[in-house]
Amino acid sequence: DSKQKALDPNRLSITQTSNPKPLSQPENLVFGREFTDHMLAIEWTQEDGWLDPKITPYQNLSLDPATCVFHYAFECFEGMKAYKDKDGKVRLFRPDMNMARLNKSASRIALPTFEPTSFIELISKLVNLDSRFIPNQRGYSLYLRPTMIGTQRTLGVGPPGSALLYVIASPVGPYYPTGFKAVSLEATDYAVRAWPGGVGDKKLGANYAPCIVPQLQAASRGYQQNLWLFGEEEYVTEVGTMNMFVVLKDKKTGQKELITAPLDGTILEGVTRDSVLALARERLVPEGWKVTERKYTMNDLHEASQDGRLVEAFGAGTAAIVSPIRTIAWKGKHVDCGLKETEESGETALRVKEWIEAIQYGEEEHDWSVKI
Ligand code: COI
Repeated sequence: DSKQKALDPNRLSITQTSNPKPLSQPENLVFGREFTDHMLAIEWTQEDGWLDPKITPYQNLSLDPATCVFHYAFECFEGMKAYKDKDGKVRLFRPDMNMARLNKSASRIALPTFEPTSFIELISKLVNLDSRFIPNQRGYSLYLRPTMIGTQRTLGVGPPGSALLYVIASPVGPYYPTGFKAVSLEATDYAVRAWPGGVGDKKLGANYAPCIVPQLQAASRGYQQNLWLFGEEEYVTEVGTMNMFVVLKDKKTGQKELITAPLDGTILEGVTRDSVLALARERLVPEGWKVTERKYTMNDLHEASQDGRLVEAFGAGTAAIVSPIRTIAWKGKHVDCGLKETEESGETALRVKEWIEAIQYGEEEHDWSVKI
């Protein structure tokens, strides 16, 4: 293995498109439907390690039908964004977090790992080459999709002897073009997203496909998203594809507590989740809040809601940043999550969104925002 080459940005070759795409009007962008002119791809083989990185025109992959990704789901991915600040400079948000998570996901499914700073350097080359696709307005960004697949042509079940690491980029607008819209959830009681010792804490494609049917079921009954619970206790874990946060008031003292489930192996290690926690510890704790990673149950939320102590609930993820929640349908009840009828978001979700966006768009200088 010692002759395996490391990922090397100095060996990058760039083939530019001769057919640049027209830019869409930002307000017409639909999440993940349009892609930039170019893509980045790096092949890996067991024999040689990481081969020469290539930026090429955006194009189809050509894979044998026996390729292991199609049969045994050797696939993991990341979601991250590039932003244009008011000076036109391009920035990534906490790319080191995405790199660390991709390496964890890859190693869990016997795919190769890579040197994080080298991959960030290569991604930066792609983003800068296609930077004309990043609208320079607040709420808009370039969604990046680093992906790794096993490419060995075999039906044998074993570690892939070859892999492809690639990145595609999609210009996106605000998740909710008309502003925040609070969503109604249905707690899923017949399916489980993740379990102890499983892979729910990894960003594997295989974790997402089985979530669509529960999502459709919720939608068929008029709910925008489903809420994932775990165990007899009905611990609240995640909402749709996002981490879940709630604000509760203490029974005796009235102290506000921002709560999210702990990283016990059943929770995706969200970059937005981590950012919300860090900013809340820095900015809400001095205001007298508690900020806690702990287990909480659907029954806790129901009880708090009945007592008027459930102040707010929201999802947190890269795509939408925060997604406010109005109600949760659970066991024939509607658990009210604290919003007034005329409100689309609670105060905490709005503040957190504003804090994170100010950093992402470089309005507030912060280590998390990396100029490239
Ligand atoms: C997110 O960013 O919230 C997601 O996980 C959605 C992504 C898989 C499209």
